[in-house]
Amino acid sequence: MKPARMLILVPFALLLLAWLGRGQNPTTKLRADADGLARTPPMGWYPWNEFGQEPQNESLIKETAEALIRSGMKDAGYTYIGPDEGICFSRDASGKLVSNLARYPSGLLGLGDYLHARGLKYALYTDAGTHTCSNAMPGTKGHEFEDMQAFADWRADYVKIDWCNTEGQNPEQAYTRLRDGQLAAGRPIVFSLCSWGEGQPWKWAASVGHLWRTTGDICAPGKASWATAMQNAAANETLFAAAGPGHWDDPDMLITGMSGLSDAQNRSFFSLWCMMAAPLMAGNDLRSMTESTIKILTNREAIGINQDPLGIQGRIVRKQGAAQIWAGKRLFDGSQAVLVFNPSSAAAVVEVTPGDVGFEESDRFYVRELWKHETTGPRAGNVRVTVAPSDVAMLRLSKTDSFPLPPIIVAVSYRAVFRAAAHTPQELAQAIMVRNNGSGVLPLWKVRPDLPSWLSVTVSQSGNAQTFSNKVSTAGLAQGQYHALVRADNREPLSGLPMSTLYYDVDLEVD
Ligand code: GLA
Repeated sequence: MKPARMLILVPFALLLLAWLGRGQNPTTKLRADADGLARTPPMGWYPWNEFGQEPQNESLIKETAEALIRSGMKDAGYTYIGPDEGICFSRDASGKLVSNLARYPSGLLGLGDYLHARGLKYALYTDAGTHTCSNAMPGTKGHEFEDMQAFADWRADYVKIDWCNTEGQNPEQAYTRLRDGQLAAGRPIVFSLCSWGEGQPWKWAASVGHLWRTTGDICAPGKASWATAMQNAAANETLFAAAGPGHWDDPDMLITGMSGLSDAQNRSFFSLWCMMAAPLMAGNDLRSMTESTIKILTNREAIGINQDPLGIQGRIVRKQGAAQIWAGKRLFDGSQAVLVFNPSSAAAVVEVTPGDVGFEESDRFYVRELWKHETTGPRAGNVRVTVAPSDVAMLRLSKTDSFPLPPIIVAVSYRAVFRAAAHTPQELAQAIMVRNNGSGVLPLWKVRPDLPSWLSVTVSQSGNAQTFSNKVSTAGLAQGQYHALVRADNREPLSGLPMSTLYYDVDLEVD
């Protein structure tokens, strides 16, 4: 072939390589493009790592929700919470899922209402097979559409779907059918696939759900294992190309704050999960956390790396001795995240080079230490860090010294409730207030105009808070229950990228 013709082919070859490297099929249509969910990795809490099945019940979930709010975790962005395999429902004679009222006296709808009233989102759990792992709950096999309707009726916002008792099932087919069931039910729900990597979901699941487990369980209940955590991180690291906004590799829930881990291990673990843009579902007992666990779980600067709108999964770009240099994670303001992790039992002195983050030798830049909360610079050349055994240095390198934090959306409540008498038409109003705990000011949220005729919503702004004013008019409405799910979209202004869509429920009872 003539050299000129070969030159023309180079860009196409590079494009093809980039596509192949992404992991997902290049023609994949993202599920999140339609529902706007989980544009940044989901954050929340699930009981499994600490508690297993016992004592999962309504009190545990409620006490944990209060602890999550009290500890500052809600303000730091943790939102999704609910039972994991917590024996919360059974199937009745007609095939319908019914709440286990002995463990959850408010019923699963009532528990969701409790969480929504506190500005939290509701997470539930089921299985793609005949039964859940302990065989104590029915799985969805053969009931996919009815069960996904039940989750929508309980007003779940997040569902993890496990892979036990699935002999003979194909993961892609089974999870796709469940996705179709969710779409038919009509409530946008974050879909967390949990096949522990079986069926290689990173190759196809971006059109099915929003996150998928890449590994086996990170620990047995109550028994944090540093060795397993390191294995999960190593396996997940290799899949970096498959992750991005709305579709995440999930190396399993956090073990930060469980017994048996040192402060350094807790810090390292959390930093690795932040750097991998992994979902941050805490798994410890939030009711009895130490101050140092709270400090780690709520480090806004580390969370800023995890919640970056570009959604790039960082990776190991170089090793120096045993120390790992993680980079490849450009952030929304053009700065670069770097994690130096020292897994060995001796202190390590590591040089981070400008080349590690794509800077030139002559570039002048600032260095922000995300655990020390200190900035140095401007400077050029290598950055030398000394890292204690099992510890990390987490850095942000930037050509400016502003280090903005990405949006963290925190609501006072995700539900507005109205009650009116049928015989006297009324105009009622109730506000839903939503704050951005990141550093920028957001444009106004845009409410999707497909509201029922009895509801109108306007949005106004004051500082970092926006108020959704919900106005209900009952004129002409017959007695009954009315429901609307309000959808609002926004863009992060620095990157111009869409943010996770915001949804809240409006209920109107006309007596
Ligand atoms: C599987 C999952 C865990 C947990 C348990 C519940 O092992 O991977 O995260 O949900 O099931 O039985």
